[in-house]
Amino acid sequence: MRVAIIGQGYVGLTMAVGAASAGHSVIGVDVNSTLIDQLNAGKSHIEGITDTDLAGFIAACSYAASADASVLDGSDVIVIAVPTPLDAQRNPDLSFVRAAAELIQKNVKSPALIVNESTSYPGTLRNEIAARITGVDHLYASSPERVDPGNNQWGTKNTPRLIGGLTPAAVAKACEFYGSFCDSIIEVSSPEVAEAAKIFENTFRQVNIALVNEFAQISDALGISSREVIEAAATKPYGFMAFNPGPGVGGHCIPVDPSYLAYVANQVGVPATFIERANEVNLAMPAYVVKRVLAGSGGSIKGKIVVVVGVSYKSNVADTRETPAAAVIDLLREQGAAVTWHDDLVVNWRGETSSPIAGADMAVVVTKHDGVDLAAIMTCGYVFDCTGQIAGVDGI
Ligand SMILES: NC(=O)c1ccc[n+]([C@@H]2O[C@H](COP(=O)([O-])OP(=O)(O)OC[C@H]3O[C@@H](n4cnc5c(N)ncnc54)[C@H](O)[C@@H]3O)[C@@H](O)[C@H]2O)c1
Repeated sequence: MRVAIIGQGYVGLTMAVGAASAGHSVIGVDVNSTLIDQLNAGKSHIEGITDTDLAGFIAACSYAASADASVLDGSDVIVIAVPTPLDAQRNPDLSFVRAAAELIQKNVKSPALIVNESTSYPGTLRNEIAARITGVDHLYASSPERVDPGNNQWGTKNTPRLIGGLTPAAVAKACEFYGSFCDSIIEVSSPEVAEAAKIFENTFRQVNIALVNEFAQISDALGISSREVIEAAATKPYGFMAFNPGPGVGGHCIPVDPSYLAYVANQVGVPATFIERANEVNLAMPAYVVKRVLAGSGGSIKGKIVVVVGVSYKSNVADTRETPAAAVIDLLREQGAAVTWHDDLVVNWRGETSSPIAGADMAVVVTKHDGVDLAAIMTCGYVFDCTGQIAGVDGI
């Protein structure tokens, strides 16, 4: 099939490579022309997609990138994979989804299957995409992306894929397309079910992470190791799923998607109390980390050199969106510490560059990438570990 993917970020490029591997002819469309040039030169910006893979698909003419939306016309399948952030009031910002729908309306004259993979609340495909595209008899389906960047076990191929369509013909075509590169397809009765399933999955994670973050604080006050308790509880073969405490939540999904659910809940007059409370607990974790660091270092860190190790939101990825490291650094600075940070994957961030670990008085490990210099961390006089992966030091 001729496949066009609008948005060549984490989701769009991953999807492009998945479809190209299955023998489809893929065009990646993005408004960022620097990114387009970089992709056409065979340079990937996503962990898990190597330059060699990308260059191979380009050489075989199964992938090309373009900033010109006129290439969308003539596609069998058009996938939308654009950002769905929150606005300044923490409400859903669907401007990118609407812009993608408008690109299709303006450029696509021949019928295609249009699939939305961007995460959003139920009703988005129907009311924000299909309703904006008139004059051509397209098929519409929702297939929310579940990619977990940096996860080597679960990828596009083996993660089961949900599909809900506006018509049976749309479902059939979407199943044919995704079935060509995904092992397991699950049809649901409507796009709204697929859309809601995605935001419920991430809300489940957000609420459970908040619960375990609160539990870690209770446990510490009781003088018990929360991680040992979680490990013990996880020996129960049913009815328990282990989540680990940390410095908060980051990335494009967990801090954002639940607010999409809270927004629609509010629209239909149902309170989303768990989501709101979970947000409060997770957003307060950086302050808890700093409180513990102060307690662990004699009550004051004034004038101390503190290095924050790992500023991306999860290990082995370079993504700093919504990372709790930002608040941890700001709060440590408010306490009068001279704070630097170290991250081999991020290197440049917020106008600052990664500094060496060695030489600091204290280290606060927010995210631990494979290969980080543990020996250098241990040269710091005091170490606070938010990851539970460094034995014998203070932490959560
Ligand atoms: N990153 C993840 O782990 C992940 C996982 C599952 C779902 N999602 C969801 O997938 C969607 C995309 O996320 P992402 O992480 O790939 O975002 P991203 O920011 O990495 O990439 C989005 C790309 O879309 C481009 N874009 C924006 N508006 C456009 C337009 N009108 N036309 C063409 N290109 C446009 C941007 O330039 C950017 O390159 C979001 O809804 C997100 O919530 C993300």
